[in-house]
Amino acid sequence: MADPVGAGGLPPGFSLIVLDEAGSTNDEAARLALSGAGEFTLCQARRQTGGRGRQGRVWSSPEGNLYQSMVLRPRRRAAEVAQISLIAGLALTEAVAQTVGTAAAATVKWPNDVLLNEAKVAGVLLEASLLPDGTVGHVILGTGVNIAHHPAETPYPATHVQAYAPAATVTGIQAAFCGSFAFWYSEWQEQGFAAVRQGWLKRAWRLGELVRLRPGQETVTGRFLGIDDEGAMLLETADGVQRYTAGDMFGLPV
Ligand code: BTN
Repeated sequence: MADPVGAGGLPPGFSLIVLDEAGSTNDEAARLALSGAGEFTLCQARRQTGGRGRQGRVWSSPEGNLYQSMVLRPRRRAAEVAQISLIAGLALTEAVAQTVGTAAAATVKWPNDVLLNEAKVAGVLLEASLLPDGTVGHVILGTGVNIAHHPAETPYPATHVQAYAPAATVTGIQAAFCGSFAFWYSEWQEQGFAAVRQGWLKRAWRLGELVRLRPGQETVTGRFLGIDDEGAMLLETADGVQRYTAGDMFGLPV
């Protein structure tokens, strides 16, 4: 049942709908967007029965974690929309870092996975609707944060926030994320990704280190030099500096 609640703790302009259960909050938010919901409408579910991650993966969604999707109507060009996922990764990292304090290190793994002491704690699923003329209709920003639980069987190490900050709450992390996201999103709308880049780099995982990237079927090894003013990854390889706009990044044993 839909339970519209006051958006206490959220930045001005946000509105929040909380569902006990959803298939995927991204689908619920897309429905809201199509019926005219405005920017910063948030749809949260206490649990999801069909939570999805990037690359067709399942996102395990038992009660106790944060699952939410935000309607956005960016004024920037369609080609820039993917940059929102880096902004969300940065904002999630800031929210988790603020919550755990010095108990663990929160970092963002390009482009948008959030790690806590090297294990994944949060992720971003961005889905955009482009209009026939190539402009952006709406964007759905889905975010999941493992707070009380993390899945046991993942192809990568996973963790949850309460493992380091037992008092962490869903509403506390939600408010921290929305505050940070509102700030960086406004910077991006006004000035573009260059205004976000330094903030992102401060939280970057393995910056300056040797890493592997799987942009497709192949694997590339190189030194992670950072990201450019469009959010693309810069990798110094044996063939020179290469620029990537998509891919899965992995560490090398240190
Ligand atoms: C990832 O693979 O890292 C992205 C995970 C995104 C999960 C969130 S939970 C809320 C929203 N609804 C979904 O079905 N997925 C996103």
